[in-house]
Parts: sequence; structure tokens; C-alpha cells
Amino acid sequence: MLHFVFLLFGICSVQGYFTLPGNCPENVTLQEDFRLALFYGKWYQVYHYSSNGLNKNNCSTVELITKPDGIYINQSRVDLGIFHRFSIGKIKIPTDIENAADLGVTFTFDDAPRRLKTRHYPFRVLATNNNFYATIYTCSYSPLVNKHFIYVWILSRNPVLNDVSKELAIKPLNEIGIDSSKLVKDEWTHCNPKYYDSTPVEPFTFRYPVPIYNID
Ligand SMILES: *[C@@H]1O[C@H](CO)[C@@H](O)[C@H](O)[C@H]1NC(C)=O
Ligand SMILES: *[C@@H]1O[C@H](CO)[C@@H](O)[C@H](O)[C@H]1NC(C)=O
Repeated sequence: MLHFVFLLFGICSVQGYFTLPGNCPENVTLQEDFRLALFYGKWYQVYHYSSNGLNKNNCSTVELITKPDGIYINQSRVDLGIFHRFSIGKIKIPTDIENAADLGVTFTFDDAPRRLKTRHYPFRVLATNNNFYATIYTCSYSPLVNKHFIYVWILSRNPVLNDVSKELAIKPLNEIGIDSSKLVKDEWTHCNPKYYDSTPVEPFTFRYPVPIYNID
């Protein structure tokens, strides 16, 4: 019974999360000659697209961190206008240099139930010139409902993206079937919220989507 309730809950949240029909886009052209070394430094999220329509944060930044056991990404943001939070994921670097832009990110949650402890997501660089803009997307597919979820980050080295860079940044969105008019502009005011979390939390961007359908 408990299982049934849990499964039902799982399906409901899966349906709210996965809204785009069918599988994730395939054969997407990514940034050529992508160099992770040039991606270091702070990036401001200036626009985003979330296929489930959820917009829960402002003032998001993304920054790589080098640790002894690998390269990590720090996604920081202000959630619901009140909480300053960040999430740390480990970057999965493709072994094949030809696909250098085909990154992944792995989040580990030690307190979560076993199946939900480790979560992998694609983190693919559609375009970047390293100095001004970067366009990244993730996609998760649920065979349970045969739908997918997409999130797009339009990142900028400055809180404001110049028009030329914006054009270049949004150009590859048609590759993944996203209409650029659906991008949401991020707020860069009110970035000093009341509460600051000092330890990493679960990211909103990558909710529990993928592992849910593994429930047996
Ligand atoms: C992540 O970034 C935020 C904002 O820049 C910062 O406050 C936080 O300390 C960073 N966390 C880590 C572990 O680097
Ligand atoms: C973003 O910030 C604006 C104010 O700048 C606020 O009205 C809005 O609720 C915030 N959005 C979220 C999702 O926190």
C-alpha cells in the first residue's frame, strides 16, 4: 500500500515535471572546440527556460570549482525571494575530446533514500564564446509518461547581456525545439535576501525527475 501511494505520488510529480511530448531532442549540435578551462569564472544567469513553467529563483550564478577529486559546479541563487542557496554538482567530463561540450553533472545527496542518492543529468553547452555568453541545456526523459523536461541557461559574464551576444546565445535554441520568445528574463535586483544557507541544497533546476520511475 505504501508503495502504491509512493508510486502514485511519483507519477503525479512526474507528470507536472515532464510536459514536453516524446524523447529528448537527439543529434543536437553542441559548441565546437569547447574548452572547460575557459569556462572558469563567474557566470550570471540572465535568461532561462524551464519547460514546466516553474520560476522559483532570481540572482542565479554558475561557477566552476576545482577540488582534489574533480571539477564541480556551484549553482547559486535566491529562492522565492528569501533564501540564498547553492547546489554543488560534480562535472562529468566526456572522455572523447570531439564531444567536449557534452558535459554532465552529478548531484549526491547523502541523506536521500538509496535510489535517489546520486543523480546524473546532462549539462550540454550549445554555444559559448567564453567571454560574453554561454547557452547550456539539460534534458530528462520519463519513459513512464513518454515526456521530457528541458531547462536552458542563458549565461552572461555580466548581469546584463549585450544584444549581439544575446542573438548568438539564443540562436541554437531551435536545435532543441525551444522558441526563444519563451525565455524568461532573470531579475538582478533584490539579491540580498533575508536568509543564507551555508550548506549545499538540492537544486530546483534538477528536481527528482529521473530516478522516480526506477521505483520498483
Ligand atoms: C557558491 O556560490 C555562492 C555565491 O557566489 C557562494 O556564496 C558560496 O559560498 C559558494 N559555495 C561554494 C562551496 O563555493
Ligand atoms: C524575483 O524578484 C522579484 C523582485 O525583484 C520578485 O518580485 C519575484 O517574486 C522574484 N521571483 C522569485 C521567483 O523569487
